[in-house]
Amino acid sequence: MKGLTQFLSLALVTGVLTMNSCTSKKETTEQKSGIEKASYGQLADGQTADLYTLRNASGMTAKITNYGGILVGLTAPDKDGKFEDVTLGQDSLSAYVKNNPYFGALIGRYGNRIAKGKFTLDGKTYSLVTNNMGNHLHGGTVGFDKVLWTATPIEGDEPALKLTYTAKDGEEGYPGNLSVTVTYTLQKDNALKIDYQATTDKPTVVNLTNHTYFNLTGGAKRDILDHVLTLNADRFIPVDKTLIPTGKLQPVANTPFDFTKPTVIGARINDSTDTQIKYGGGYDHGWVLNGSGDSLKLAATVYEPTSGRVMEVRTTEPAIQFYTGNFLDGSVMGREGFAYKKRYALCLETEHYPDSPNQPSFPTTVLRPGQTYKTTTVYQFSTRKE
Ligand code: BGC
Repeated sequence: MKGLTQFLSLALVTGVLTMNSCTSKKETTEQKSGIEKASYGQLADGQTADLYTLRNASGMTAKITNYGGILVGLTAPDKDGKFEDVTLGQDSLSAYVKNNPYFGALIGRYGNRIAKGKFTLDGKTYSLVTNNMGNHLHGGTVGFDKVLWTATPIEGDEPALKLTYTAKDGEEGYPGNLSVTVTYTLQKDNALKIDYQATTDKPTVVNLTNHTYFNLTGGAKRDILDHVLTLNADRFIPVDKTLIPTGKLQPVANTPFDFTKPTVIGARINDSTDTQIKYGGGYDHGWVLNGSGDSLKLAATVYEPTSGRVMEVRTTEPAIQFYTGNFLDGSVMGREGFAYKKRYALCLETEHYPDSPNQPSFPTTVLRPGQTYKTTTVYQFSTRKE
């Protein structure tokens, strides 16, 4: 009874769930779009997190919690119309709190690395929390992936979840109170759109992204080495041993980093003659996207031959970090007690170049009062029969 009362009081239903359907939280075959809200659990400080399920008319679902803005699950149909989860995730809020290698999470204030956790802006040097080989990674020890966001569901054929969070001046070392809004929208055309927006009251640096791990086999049936990838990028961003950019950009031609034509990910991932592959332990690099301007451009296409699933990534961002789950080692429990192993997923993090605050030749990531940071990324799913 408690469960039902809780569900009824929390169920924020947007034209989907009638009182009758409220009695069953099971997935139905009924294809109606909308949002369902349920309690997801309590955090150590007593605050509670919720889990929102967005559904579109074709039956695709996106589950999102306001803890870390984490995309907890995303289903997409295979070539026979079977919906399966195409992401890596965990079973409970406590699992995400305990140890999450950023599965599905929103990343900020600065996605990717800042060398030695230091940067200078307008003549003042700032020291950030260092949490990765002496560098700052993904916003520090308590980045945007570990905070509770305020959620507002938005009804409609294309249900959306608006998340807001204000990071304080000095949080993790960054200057300025930063007001952030991230909106997830599940589109009719089986695409998940993420809109990012931020404003600040002092000059600061911003680089927001989402860290979903994808495996298009559905349910992470095997590693991602047979996935076929195309990247719309003629250059990539070489790094040093600690994965900080050297400052130079390198043409991908004649390197294992050339994905300008559809290429099986596993084909060159272990090329030990390549220093950059060695440093990354596989792929863990930024690629500079072709084309300029703020319009949405095709950044990446991933095809998984057994399921026929295709994912296209479009973004307004100038770069994409392609990471092949090299640090997954089976120690993090995934869904239903399944341990995700090395290379069981790939991340395509749309963003600015790593360490931009220390690299004058890279596009700027500085945000000043009066300016609005605005970016969009769309992950679109379809199938191909071959
Ligand atoms: C980074 C990896 C890091 C991973 C953590 C990626 O964005 O590039 O180096 O290990 O995030 O999950």
